Amino acid sequence: MKLSIVFALFAVIASAADSDAKKKLPTSRGDLANGKKLFENQCALCHGQSGEGGRGPVLAKPRLPRAADDVALAKVVQDGIRGTEMPSADSMSEKEVRQVAAYVRTLGKVSIKPVPGDAAHGKALFGGKGGCAGCHAVKGEGAISGPDLAGIGTKRSAVYLKESLVSPEAAVPDGYLLVTVVSKSGASVTGTRANEDSFSMQVIDGAGRAHSFWKSDLAEVKKQFGKSPMPSYKDKLSAEELTDVVAFLASLKEEK
Ligand code: HEC
Ligand code: HEC
Repeated sequence: MKLSIVFALFAVIASAADSDAKKKLPTSRGDLANGKKLFENQCALCHGQSGEGGRGPVLAKPRLPRAADDVALAKVVQDGIRGTEMPSADSMSEKEVRQVAAYVRTLGKVSIKPVPGDAAHGKALFGGKGGCAGCHAVKGEGAISGPDLAGIGTKRSAVYLKESLVSPEAAVPDGYLLVTVVSKSGASVTGTRANEDSFSMQVIDGAGRAHSFWKSDLAEVKKQFGKSPMPSYKDKLSAEELTDVVAFLASLKEEK
């Protein structure tokens, strides 16, 4: 009887110590070295070799909005972020997940430069000279032929955003196929394919107008894989204007 109470007590203490250990990320040199290796193999592709960001956000910063504490960080690495490109860690053991998370925390200890440029001027260019608002909405309001850019500053690094403006074809997300359709009567429309089934196809042109076609009326459909419906701004905006537009995009943070 007495013994079982001692055992029960011991189990409680042991499990408390265990869950404490679960909250704290490992700090030994061996763990961090392994975390670094895993990071370079599995995360750098999107987050950059040193967490400087790329297709995914910058991780080398003191505060990560989606991973405020160590528990949340380990969970993000383990489960990914649903509905985004951030994958779950299916090929890693729990220990490895914690090692990578620990390494990510060390990245945050460096100071990073703020994104340069004049965001207010960038915003004016977005609605004005840049013509971005003709294709992009920010939070639901506006045109739909390009992706909604709300929260883009949380999702993408400044380097990637710049790349999106200069060479849009470098990373075309699924679902934004550029097509040119030519009807049997000779009319042709180029734009983003919005919908397609066996019988019909909808295309949104550069001015944001939707066109609907019966496939039986079409003479030709040219699907331009690897090309973006978005024009390159390399020669349309000056270097300074590009910097300002990137500053504006980087300021579009996801609101909680
Ligand atoms: C295929 C690209 C890709 C890979 C590979 C990837 N990530 Fe991500 N990650 C993203 C994207 C995109 C986001 C932003 C998602 C969002 O918020 O829309 C993200 C978000 C995160 C966040 C949240 C950042 C914040 O600002 O709060 C962390 C932490 C993170 N990733 C860590 C990792 C780690 C660690 C690995 C490797 C085990 C990894 N990621 C692999 C694309 C990727
Ligand atoms: C003719 C329509 C059109 C115009 C004009 C346009 N875009 Fe785009 N944009 C798109 C489409 C379609 C995509 C998705 C395909 C791609 O990434 O290339 C896209 C992608 C993007 C992306 C990448 C989004 C992501 O999550 O990867 C950014 C950033 C962007 N546009 C910003 C801008 C800015 C800023 C301007 C103005 C300077 C602009 N766009 C003008 C149609 C347009």
